[in-house]
Amino acid sequence: MNAITLPSQRAYRIVDHTYDVVVVGAGGAGLRATLGMGAAGLKTACVTKVFPTRSHTVAAQGGIGAALGNMGEDDWRWHMYDTVKGSDWLGDQDAIEYMCREAIPAVYELEHFGVPFSRTEDGRIYQRPFGGHMKEYGKAPAMRACAAADRTGHAILHTLYQQSLKHEAEFFVEYFALDLIMDDDGACRGVVAWNLEDGTIHRFRAALTVLATGGYGRAYFSCTSAHTCTGDGNAMVLRAGLPLQDMEFVQFHPTGIYGAGCLITEGARGEGGYLTNSEGERFMERYAPTAKDLASRDVVSRSMTIEIREGRGCGPHKDHVLLHLEHLGADLLAERLPGISETAKIFSGVDVTREPIPVLPTVHYNMGGIPTNYRTEVITHGPDGDRVVPGLMAVGEAACVSVHGANRLGTNSLLDLVVFGRAAAHRAAEIVKPGQSQPPLPARAGERALDRLDRTRHAKGGTNTGEIRLAMQRTMQDHAAVFRTSASLAEGVEKMRANWRHMDDLRVNDRSLIWNSDLVEALELDNLMGNAMTTIVSAEARHESRGAHAHEDYPERDDENWMKHTLAWCDETGQVRLDYRGVTLTTLTNEVQSFPPKARVY
Ligand code: FUM
Repeated sequence: MNAITLPSQRAYRIVDHTYDVVVVGAGGAGLRATLGMGAAGLKTACVTKVFPTRSHTVAAQGGIGAALGNMGEDDWRWHMYDTVKGSDWLGDQDAIEYMCREAIPAVYELEHFGVPFSRTEDGRIYQRPFGGHMKEYGKAPAMRACAAADRTGHAILHTLYQQSLKHEAEFFVEYFALDLIMDDDGACRGVVAWNLEDGTIHRFRAALTVLATGGYGRAYFSCTSAHTCTGDGNAMVLRAGLPLQDMEFVQFHPTGIYGAGCLITEGARGEGGYLTNSEGERFMERYAPTAKDLASRDVVSRSMTIEIREGRGCGPHKDHVLLHLEHLGADLLAERLPGISETAKIFSGVDVTREPIPVLPTVHYNMGGIPTNYRTEVITHGPDGDRVVPGLMAVGEAACVSVHGANRLGTNSLLDLVVFGRAAAHRAAEIVKPGQSQPPLPARAGERALDRLDRTRHAKGGTNTGEIRLAMQRTMQDHAAVFRTSASLAEGVEKMRANWRHMDDLRVNDRSLIWNSDLVEALELDNLMGNAMTTIVSAEARHESRGAHAHEDYPERDDENWMKHTLAWCDETGQVRLDYRGVTLTTLTNEVQSFPPKARVY
């Protein structure tokens, strides 16, 4: 066992491991990558801060998108068009083509792995309509969301975990990843993690490190994300001196339960549910005459916000709208929407067979993240253009491939996890040989990570983590919301700078390295800060409206000046540097033509 003595003179004992691949995170993307790496004969470790089947993918409800055509004609090219349009032409079309084409084999593969999908009368995978998914390039709603009732993520996550065990992946459960190990030549050589159970520190040396750490919904006050969604991988990338991409694009799901934030699946509207305002009007007919309640999420969330702002909100404070499912009947609700029926009862006291659910747009998904190509290799950008970071991959919500651009379509999240988790394994099998030799790690590799752990653990200021976290969450909720203005964003940036400075006064009360939730939350807050800061600074800089970034001072999309990805670097003082890179408007193959930008109408 090695040991590192820090400038503080405190020594930490280190346990070293060598693998072909280390995957950080055990949600849908991490597990699909892990099982694929194992199946390719690569010695694979999966490091995860929660037990795999507790990862946030378990909460995904309505379905996984794939143009199987089980319930009406469909075509992956229509799916591709919908995704490009949904992204408001910020998505990279090579990656979107890859995702929508590979969706079909990837979903059949899940079926063969054992995912218990709901079934049609003739035994095929059941598919339901979802927002923004249309037939024939936007003509009428398509039934494309492959569903396991309203517990699709749960079904997929459990199956992938079982398959990973079959392929003999080794799991390091309740290990908190602290930082990447980066070499002087800019390559990633592995990751440092803290074992929460016994306090030991572990260095995982690997030919490939795959970040699958999910989103950072918890940077906001009200979100559908689990408490674990703290953007840990994104923050590790920032600390490695690499950029994040398109962080200003934060998705608000239209139907979070009012006051609780829990998700009510868009599948509820897919099954025939609809929204009304205080006048009992089905207002989506005014905003999206064709798709109505099944318009893209950003469109529905903005429409709801306008209804509330204009005084047509429901309840004593006129601050939410109503989602009606009662007309669907108890049998259908029990068969297709059992999970949300229970959630509505517990969290809003509503019996969905009799009364509507009060709902409000709620933070749900981060389109931005770690920039990668469609092979999931992390890229950075400099004066000479894009460059692959050797040894580092990112998949799932942590990554920005970018298939979702400025706004993600529902069901494309589970799809992204599975398709790009699988792509990571395919690419790994091409570039890593099982057991290939790796140079030794420098003796003090991981020292910076340990120093950060040590400083946080001994933080002796006057402010608890919860207080700073709440200030950050309120800043983001108030200033980087569904609608944004220059003044509000500028004020938000100033408030975030103050929140950042406040971290100097952090107090951690428990110094133990064993099951220390106080220290975990402090480290998570530090991670959230980098995510929040890059989000609000990137948002302030983008002077247009596109997808989820609705800027009231610049209400139009501006393709001439702003059809480009934002890249944001953040140093340890919270200073953000921005740069931009082009959007890929060409396809990968000649099986489909690219889709030139046009007005986005539903
Ligand atoms: O509404 C939902 O079931 C969420 C799905 C998604 O975000 O893809």
